[in-house]
Amino acid sequence: MKIYIVYDSDNGHTRALAEAISEGVKSVNGAEVYVNHVNHANIRDLEDMDAIIWGCPGHFGSISGGLKNWIDKLGYLWAHGKLVGKIGAVFCTTATTHGGVEATMLNLITPMLHQGMIIVGLPGNIPENAAYGSYYGVGITCPVDEPDNQLTQNDRALGKALGKRVAETVQRFAGNQ
Ligand SMILES: Cc1cc2nc3c(=O)[nH]c(=O)nc-3n(C[C@H](O)[C@H](O)[C@H](O)COP(=O)(O)O)c2cc1C
Repeated sequence: MKIYIVYDSDNGHTRALAEAISEGVKSVNGAEVYVNHVNHANIRDLEDMDAIIWGCPGHFGSISGGLKNWIDKLGYLWAHGKLVGKIGAVFCTTATTHGGVEATMLNLITPMLHQGMIIVGLPGNIPENAAYGSYYGVGITCPVDEPDNQLTQNDRALGKALGKRVAETVQRFAGNQ
């Protein structure tokens, strides 16, 4: 099973979340994970993947320009239905709690649905998510006014949980084909 993680990141927060998600993917037997900054991500690799996970910093409640520009190059894949039936999941980071985490994730999910992908979110029965409530993917706030505004252990656990869930979902689909 092959899983592609593509992220945009200016200051490393979203990259750290992508790495946590990648660890979660790798915890599942047989999972191969490819992690790329959007500037190095090759659209032609997507066709060969079982799942695609993309994420970015929230920019004014929506997808960062870097990632949106890349997603807008997926027209050929859309026209030929190349991503139909692939598993998809999303993630983002923002600087403020109410600064658009959920809006950004919903905006990230929309193009996946247009591509015919099957979206995997994060349920509330995952212990780290029970009180956190990140259901559309993993959305993390890294407050700029805190001296150490890096990802916490809980943030990383949420990332790992999403990666693991995506890989397990691919396995389940493959088993039922
Ligand atoms: C152009 C721009 C717009 C932003 N808009 C928001 C916003 O609407 N809400 C918010 O909380 N943070 C916003 N931020 C802050 C980033 O989302 C946040 O710092 C993020 O964690 C950065 O991720 P990175 O370290 O991976 O680049 C914005 C940053 C930039 C550069």
